[in-house]
Amino acid sequence: MNIRKIAFYDAKPYDEESFKAVNGEFGYEIKYHHSRLGLDTAILASGSEFVCAFVNDIIDKDVVEILYDQGVKLIALRCAGYNNVNLHAVYKKIHVVRVPAYSPYAVAEHAVGLILALNRKIHKAYYRTRDNNFNINGFLGFDMHGKTAGIIGTGKIGRVLIDILKGFGMKILAFDSYPNPEAAGEQGFEYTDLDTIYSKCDIISLHCPLVKETYHLINEDAIKKMKDSVMIINTSRGALIDTVALIEGLKAKKVGSAGLDVYEEESEYFFEDFSGNIIDDDILARLLTFPNVLVTSHQAFFTREALHNIAHTTLSNIRDFIDGKPLVNEICYKCGAESCNKKITGKCF
Ligand code: NAI
Repeated sequence: MNIRKIAFYDAKPYDEESFKAVNGEFGYEIKYHHSRLGLDTAILASGSEFVCAFVNDIIDKDVVEILYDQGVKLIALRCAGYNNVNLHAVYKKIHVVRVPAYSPYAVAEHAVGLILALNRKIHKAYYRTRDNNFNINGFLGFDMHGKTAGIIGTGKIGRVLIDILKGFGMKILAFDSYPNPEAAGEQGFEYTDLDTIYSKCDIISLHCPLVKETYHLINEDAIKKMKDSVMIINTSRGALIDTVALIEGLKAKKVGSAGLDVYEEESEYFFEDFSGNIIDDDILARLLTFPNVLVTSHQAFFTREALHNIAHTTLSNIRDFIDGKPLVNEICYKCGAESCNKKITGKCF
């Protein structure tokens, strides 16, 4: 039997563990590369028909050319977002599949973790009590019950978060460029425009994809329209927020707190250990100085269940391609595929 080869980029120990466990069912030859996919490393895919890539791998025009010349037929993203892929470059050359959902619960629950920690200052309390300091000055929070949350993007993750926050007794306002009135009726939330979300919500959480229309959605103008002391949560993609504007909002005490699992320039730092290094990125460094900012390193997806689902869907996507089956998780270009780009951007190239 012809063993199919996969060049696996940006492999971390937990990736290898979950893929090795699931690959028993598939039998691919997976070559795990610790380096990220980019111009200098694309050559490592030589001899592999398939490439497995993650959120910070670079899949631009030049990289696509190298992969294509080496005979790569399919890029299997082991993530949901695909803003790092130049879809025009892969068009008619290399198929791209993704894992549209691996655990909306993991991400929504992490967003709730950020909200609770920021509101009740749990991240600060942890250090205080470890130092035998049992003073609670500065830890004053607010009841979430009765407050209003604004959810931008009511897809899989946004809707799970809505259910959880409804459980806290919060009122939910939502914005989505493709609203889902049925879900609104069933779950008891209300669609409105962005300006109303900005002016009425105590907590705003972002769950839309990063596309041209959403780049720097949260900018100086948007922040100006928000309620004083608003809490902003981003577990989606960093560039949804203009970080400089956020920092200004925090300095002006307009923004009460921010929980960020993603950062627009994260690719240099996130997922890596820089504890012995100097951070050259002054914006990230400034962000980390605020007591009311909680940064996590793109870990919202990181649960056992999600890792299993990621590995299984990724390897199934590749098997569907080998078997000539429809690629239900293909990113557009065969317009009509389940995850067609058209739904997100309104056009299919
Ligand atoms: P989804 O595709 O189910 O939902 C996205 C929603 O955003 C859709 O309802 C869509 O109509 C809406 N949308 C599209 N353009 C919009 C716009 N311009 N304004 C407002 N809404 C718009 O995606 P899902 O699974 O809920 O994921 C949401 C995002 O979460 C992903 O795009 C991804 O970037 C991020 N994510 C982050 C993870 C992490 O570990 N931090 C893990 C998984 C996803």
